[in-house]
Amino acid sequence: MMPKDLLSISDLTREEMLQLIDLSAELKEKRGKRHAQTPLINRSLAMIFEKPSTRTRVSFEVAMTELGGHALYLNSADLQLGRSETVCDTAMVLSRYVHAIIARVYSHETVRELAKCADIPVINALSDAEHPCQLLADLLTIRERKGDFQGLRVAWIGDGNNVCNSLILASAITGMRLSVACPTGYEPDQAMVGHARELGGDVVVTHDPVEAAAGADVLYTDVWVSMGDETEEQERLRDFDGFQINDALLNRAKPDCIVLHCLPAHRGKEITGEVLEGAHSAVLDQAENRLHVQKALLVMLMAER
Ligand code: CP
Ligand code: NVA
Repeated sequence: MMPKDLLSISDLTREEMLQLIDLSAELKEKRGKRHAQTPLINRSLAMIFEKPSTRTRVSFEVAMTELGGHALYLNSADLQLGRSETVCDTAMVLSRYVHAIIARVYSHETVRELAKCADIPVINALSDAEHPCQLLADLLTIRERKGDFQGLRVAWIGDGNNVCNSLILASAITGMRLSVACPTGYEPDQAMVGHARELGGDVVVTHDPVEAAAGADVLYTDVWVSMGDETEEQERLRDFDGFQINDALLNRAKPDCIVLHCLPAHRGKEITGEVLEGAHSAVLDQAENRLHVQKALLVMLMAER
């Protein structure tokens, strides 16, 4: 039985996660053969965005269309939500029209409130705390390239942010060993690290990118300045100096290491153009896989409701 909502990647058990990845791979293969899969005919998805998006917005909208349903893009500023209608009233009203909600928000509390008040599934499409849909795509990409998760060495280089938090939990659930290398003051949420360790996760937090990258199967980074952190930009660019994925760092990893970046990327900052576009990069598969995993997620959360 799937949970009603996906707010955190840890809302899924290991079995549910593996089942979802299997279904994603099946839907990907069928799409490649142009075999239509339309289990969500007459189903609608509300997509609330408080922040910009390319991948999340487009992949969810295309996913709903291909599954036979319909998606509505709702910029939060254009909703009555932007004129002080409550989150809870918005959730209750949308529950009378549509069959699921995705929401990209500043505060994680907003997706919690939506989920509490909505009768329908609510999916976190990125909050300040987590980015679970991203991690589902990353897991599919890692499995395609590496075959299995157990014992893989993953190194996160950069900000201990929302994507990092979801990676910490996902690594624990799937049995990957994770090293997080971040500048002092940018460590991931201690509660996430604690939760991951309770789940049996092997997670190390260091301030040394070379130590983290040594022998890695997967190198992963993200922007130094996340949406909402723009006022700290100059300070962050200084603080993250030395935390770039470049050829020198890649040389510390395993020879068949893959490089992930959730995108958008900033060449010359968190990653060099050479590595982003080089032979080890899996970033475009990662972006494409957003579509396939979100289709699986929508089917698993919506089909029986
Ligand atoms: N990775 C990701 O979520 O990209 P967007 O911000 O373009 O949706
Ligand atoms: N950490 C980034 C991810 C963007 C997809 C942000 O929150 O802006």
